[in-house]
Amino acid sequence: MLVTQQPVLRRFWYPVIPVERLQDGPKPFRLLGEEIVVWLDSNGVPKAVQDRCCHRSAKLSLGWVDGDAIVCPYHGWSYDGAGTCVKIPQTPDRPSNRAKVRAFHADCKYGYVWVALAEPLTPIPELPEASEPAYRCIHQFYEVWRTAGLRLMENSFDNAHFSFVHRESFGQFDKPIPAQLHIEPHEYGFRFETVAPVNNPAAQKQLLRMDSDTTERHMTSDWFMPFGRKLHIRYPNGLVHAIVTYATPIDDDTSMICQWAYRSDTEEAAAAADIIAFDRQVTEEDKRVLETTDSDVPLDVSSGEERHMPSDQPGLVMRKQLLQLLQRFGETEARRQVALSRLQEKVS
Ligand code: FES
Ligand code: CO
Repeated sequence: MLVTQQPVLRRFWYPVIPVERLQDGPKPFRLLGEEIVVWLDSNGVPKAVQDRCCHRSAKLSLGWVDGDAIVCPYHGWSYDGAGTCVKIPQTPDRPSNRAKVRAFHADCKYGYVWVALAEPLTPIPELPEASEPAYRCIHQFYEVWRTAGLRLMENSFDNAHFSFVHRESFGQFDKPIPAQLHIEPHEYGFRFETVAPVNNPAAQKQLLRMDSDTTERHMTSDWFMPFGRKLHIRYPNGLVHAIVTYATPIDDDTSMICQWAYRSDTEEAAAAADIIAFDRQVTEEDKRVLETTDSDVPLDVSSGEERHMPSDQPGLVMRKQLLQLLQRFGETEARRQVALSRLQEKVS
């Protein structure tokens, strides 16, 4: 699937930028191939419009915020959050009501500005941990990966990769047969349950306050269609480590990884910096491999393009649900690989 070619994906919320990064002015972002500019109005309410002035096409993100509006850096035209040009300094008595840029849905949640490019099909997911005082929030990563969001989502629910990708951290290399899992699909995602045995390396022993060399991850995790997940891990001593990760689609090959965690322990018990360091190691292990995979993931698996095994079930359910979504909105799956292989056939 080429994400920029499927209009229905524009109807989901994606975290695009941490709110704090907007304190010093507007910022650009590319979402599903669309260049947007995001800013905070005078009340701190986020706004998002097309990053292209309708006068001479300059990038509005190079401009600045004046009151609630964004000012173009080229000739100073101003736009409000609805994309309407509200000021043309050169003709102050003749505001042009035809001057307009496209505006998008914007909201603030969990420390991020979220954007939907078209009417959202489903709200930003509720995360109960965010409002429970028992949990602290730790912001972890905001960085670009050269991988498709769907690859990262599949990897999140793939019990078979621990033994190999994570053999240096928590994976059990000598036990490659993955734990059983259970999936409960719903309209815009699924709930996943498993109990995965893992190693408990020295760095984790201290963070988890557990002495044993191995432990179990009781996971009750969620996939939020299309490119969001919450891994909810409970360890045998009751400690909860919930990791929220969004692979916000920049374009067909690139994702912005937005990751934050909720922990049921305290800073005294486990320093946030140490928790981030361990999750950094694990995430780098995933990144190294994921960045080598094709970004044009086939949703329609009937082509036999990729081979599968039983533990691939979560990824296959994702592909099926996404394919059904496309069908529901009258879209067919856009593919780059298919076009390429037809070209190769012609050449040979
Ligand atoms: Fe924006 Fe001229 S290009 S005001
Ligand atoms: Co992994």
